[in-house]
Amino acid sequence: LPHQNLLHCLSLSSNLSSSFARVVYTPDSSSYSSVLESRIRNLRFSTPDTPKPLVIVTPLITSHIQATIRCSREHGLRVRIRSGGHDYEGLSYVSKVPFIVIDLINFRSVDVDVENRVAWVQSGAILGELYYKIAEKSRTLAFPGGICHTVGIGGHLSGGGYGTLFRKYGLAADNVIDARLIDVNGRILDRQLMGEDVFWAIRGGGGGSFGIVLSWKLKLVPVPPTVTVFTVGKTLEQNAIKLIHKWQYVAPRLPHEMYFDISLNQINSTRDGKKTVLASFIAFFLGRTDELVALMHERFPELGITKKDCTEMSWIESIIYLGQIRNQPLEVLLDRDFQSPLTLPSFKSKSDYVKEPIPEIGLKGLWSRFSVKEAESGVIGFFSYGGKMDEIPESSTPFPHRAGNLYKIIYNVGWQQQDNINSDNYISWIRRIYSYMSSYVSKSPREAYINYRDLDIGTNNEGNTTSYARASVWGRKYFRNNFDRLVLAKTMIDPENFFRHEQSIPPLWKKQ
Ligand code: FDA
Repeated sequence: LPHQNLLHCLSLSSNLSSSFARVVYTPDSSSYSSVLESRIRNLRFSTPDTPKPLVIVTPLITSHIQATIRCSREHGLRVRIRSGGHDYEGLSYVSKVPFIVIDLINFRSVDVDVENRVAWVQSGAILGELYYKIAEKSRTLAFPGGICHTVGIGGHLSGGGYGTLFRKYGLAADNVIDARLIDVNGRILDRQLMGEDVFWAIRGGGGGSFGIVLSWKLKLVPVPPTVTVFTVGKTLEQNAIKLIHKWQYVAPRLPHEMYFDISLNQINSTRDGKKTVLASFIAFFLGRTDELVALMHERFPELGITKKDCTEMSWIESIIYLGQIRNQPLEVLLDRDFQSPLTLPSFKSKSDYVKEPIPEIGLKGLWSRFSVKEAESGVIGFFSYGGKMDEIPESSTPFPHRAGNLYKIIYNVGWQQQDNINSDNYISWIRRIYSYMSSYVSKSPREAYINYRDLDIGTNNEGNTTSYARASVWGRKYFRNNFDRLVLAKTMIDPENFFRHEQSIPPLWKKQ
């Protein structure tokens, strides 16, 4: 049996056998299920029918990872790499072919160097640990990563990573200056050793294609001691459609210091208790209230922002505010098991990019599609682009959605785990919305964000081998023309295509 061969091979790895025994879990191990489930962030992939790994390894040292790669290759087993387990399609812990999981939970050190404004962080750490440890040393330094604190460093940086600072400083991946990668031959490569093409590819080309990134050297960025936030909700009666319409013209042109999104979801009306849709305008500003209110009065007076709507806080507190985990101490950022209220336990998401403002009639159509039962737990988010994102060339990293994009849309629908049997109803609602939006969003290709992984937009063949042509279908949606350079980088670093999954980058000229 392949996994017994694998276990035998691991046990033969010299000097490692005693420590290995503590970090290898088979379905017979008493803690197998808890280790597997503790980092499944989408319970859509935690059903009795979901394929389970033959073995889970939680390496303590790099030689554990090297031996696991070697033994998996020898015995023809697929490897899934897991850092924070937030992959939207569960690709870090599910595979249709026999597989093992390398879970980097024990690779989570964070080393912050305030003087040089850099940090080395291991892939298994979560964003919250990074942010907390930066704030412990300085309240005027930050890192431009995502909003949800339980997201893993490994997957997040591999796919780009945006948060409240991205209009000022770019994506998380834009602020990586070095990394350590274990390749298919078990070599540990830093930026210089892996070369600029591979270093380029791992910063946004998607996780699980090039090797296992152990750690990342990050550039920290300055933030003022006080930032300001507001959240203002508007219903249809409060002119929400006109306000969203105007937002499309205003938000992408605001100063780089401003992050401004809109979130649409259903609520019970306070007036008659009936379901209605609320548009929440959520802002984060690198500055004080007076300046923000003046800016809003000048650029977006219709929203009617006053001082009363605004709250001042430190950058680290804003992570808690925007992650919607308000009234929690900062230590909550260290809690990787915290269930983020940003999504329900089981969910499906899709994404779009908008290059021309959507007319009011189009927004009305979107609104009306909330009037079904499945929409009760749906959220549609608009994230304005512009700022620094317009200044970074499209080919600077694999993430191509730069100048020319007004905003990104996320469509999300969630449900409780016990409702997994009805998942098709929820998913078909989100697909209907996506289909409705096709005429208003980017075309040829219809672009998508790799960190909002969506297998609907195309996959590799069964077994995950694939042709360049087939992978181009989904690859150009995530990466546009950067897809070709990703294929070249893959060909250099993993020509035999060992690291592969449903949406991994294929190498050239390997006979599949
Ligand atoms: P996970 O461990 O599932 O890995 C994701 C992919 O990367 C998998 O293919 C995996 O194999 C691979 N991988 C993981 N570690 C690797 C490593 N060390 N080396 C190589 N490959 C590796 N995004 C965003 O940009 N801004 C945001 O604010 C948010 N917010 C958010 C909230 C919530 C609740 C969720 C569920 C997700 C987000 N995201 C997000 C999306 C998030 O950035 C995305 O899902 C990341 O890929 C998750 O990284 P993890 O390490 O947690 O995932």
